[in-house]
Parts: sequence; C-alpha cells; structure tokens
Amino acid sequence: MSKKRVVSGMRPTGRLHLGHLVGALQNWVALEREYDCYYFVADWHALTSHYASTESITADAFDNAADWIAAGIDPEKSTLFVQSMVPEHAELYLLLQMVTPISWLERVPTYKEQIEQMADKDLSNLGFLGYPLLQAADVIIYDAHYVPVGDDQVPHLELSREVVRRFHNFYGDVFVEPQPLLTPTPRLPGLDNRKMSKSYGNTIDLADTSADVVKKVRQMYTDPKRVRADIPGTVEGNPVFSYHDAFNLNQAEVEELKQRYRSGTVGDVEVKTKLAAAINAMLEPMRERRAQVLARPGYVREVLVEGSRKARVVAQDTMARVRAAVHLDY
Ligand code: TRP
Repeated sequence: MSKKRVVSGMRPTGRLHLGHLVGALQNWVALEREYDCYYFVADWHALTSHYASTESITADAFDNAADWIAAGIDPEKSTLFVQSMVPEHAELYLLLQMVTPISWLERVPTYKEQIEQMADKDLSNLGFLGYPLLQAADVIIYDAHYVPVGDDQVPHLELSREVVRRFHNFYGDVFVEPQPLLTPTPRLPGLDNRKMSKSYGNTIDLADTSADVVKKVRQMYTDPKRVRADIPGTVEGNPVFSYHDAFNLNQAEVEELKQRYRSGTVGDVEVKTKLAAAINAMLEPMRERRAQVLARPGYVREVLVEGSRKARVVAQDTMARVRAAVHLDY
C-alpha cells in the first residue's frame, strides 16, 4: 500500500473541451490504477491572470470537477480538492519565495509567451510572475513523485526541482523532487486549425449536446484546396483527420476514409458525419454521468470539501516538517 503519489491541477477558467480530455483527463483516469492521485482545481492560478474578473471562478470549479467525474475520475480513488481550500499551499509558496531568485521566474518561457498571448490582460502583477513557484508548492507539499502535464509545463517542473534543490541547500532535505509524466497524446488543433482555445471559440466542449457536435464538425476547417469531392485531398495536418485519429475507435473506417480522401473518392460530408458520430459515441456516456452527478444537489461540492479536508491533513504534515527545517517551529 505504498503507491507513489501523483499531483496535477487545472485552472477553472471556463468549460472543459476535447483538448482537456485528451491532453489531461484521460491520462488522469489511467493513472488512478497505479498511483495515489491528487487532482485539484487551481483557483489561485486562475486568479494570477483573471484577477480582474473573478466572479465565475467558483462556478467553473464545480463545473470542471463535474466533468472530471463524468470523464471517469473516481472520487473514491482519487483525492479531488480545491487549491484555495488548502491554504498551506500559500504558506509554502511564501517560504519558497525567500530562496527563489526573481531571474529564475523571469526566465521561464511561458512567462513572456503568455504575456504576449494575453495582450488584452495586464500581467505585470507579481502573482503572475510567481505562477510557476505556486505550482511548485502545489506539487511538493504532497511529496508528489510525478506530475502529469503537457510538454508546455515541463519548464515549470524544471523550476520546481531547482527550487527544491536550493531549499535543501539552505535547510536540509525535506521534499521529493517531482518529475513530469508527459501526457503521450499529440496536441489537437482547434476546429479552425488554429491553436485550440476557448477564447478563439474553436472547441468542442465536453458538455456540448450531440446536435452542437454535429454542427461544429460540419463547420470544421479541412483541406482548403479541395473544392470538390473528386479532387485528391491532404490527410496530414488536416484537423478533420487528426480528430478521426484521436476519437474514432474504428481504425478500419479511418484508414478507408483517408485512402478515399487521398484519391478524391469521398465527400467532406461523409468524412465529417462519421467524425461527429465517433465524437458523440465517446461523449455520450460522459454526458450521462455528468447528468447523474449534477442531479445530486451539492454532490460535487461535497466531493471537493471532503477531498480538500483530506489533502489538508497531508499538507499540514508537510508544513510541520518545513517549519522545523526553517527553524520556525514555536
Ligand atoms: N499550470 C497548470 C496548467 O496550466 C495548472 C497547474 C497549477 C498545475 N498547479 C499545478 C498542474 C500543479 C500540475 C501540477 O495546466
């Protein structure tokens, strides 16, 4: 009964979509078997960039956690909690700040990238600079060995390990150095072939109805050179086929569609109709579970409150060790 621990979090900044499913949730579900999993709503992380409009964060937190359960996360197996309900994360974050050079945070690649990408937001706040350090606290407070993340987050884990080593140099060994557990799935493009993002409106959401899915798939970007069904088309880099690869379990059908697409013997309507059917087949059981979860008033909240209570016990235990190491044990 000494399973290694996994910790991962998601920011509550809107509804979850297929990108979250293949980029995180399916992996989270798979890890439940082998690890002691702690999954949390990173609401403070959402605040680092969304501090000017915080009113939807709690609703998004409940909505996202409902989707986690709908996607197959078992609240009996994994600990589901809310970051801000375990205030020890903030205490550890503060202590880590004492030993973290500002230049280390300025050098994290996502820092400058995100400031450019979110040009509509003022990200000159200290909280945003500290984002990866708060993330380090999230992970090491639970002695997590592994952190399932996408490759964009690897530098954050790198920073976590550097900060742990520096902390250990001053105060002795207290923490586990966390390793990233890379999610194997390739990144899916958005429906319009740009980066998938809620702000571009190019996502299929886990809570979309089957009619929404049919409509969205019909409007998907595909090979623009193919103005007629008898013109040979390009499969590689075509988002319609990336989605078929990711969601259509009938591999023979996918191969056949690809061949006919390349030879100009299939229409876009058929390719897209089959894709929408495959996506709906996958989402339907999740829709049902989500409806069951939401039919129980207060259930999601209960799961998060109970999970946070449990997480807090572990976090407080770690903080007792940390305070002793820093010689702040009164
Ligand atoms: N930065 C992560 C993301 O954007 C969210 C996150 C916050 C996280 N704290 C974490 C992920 C700790 C893993 C572990 O997706």
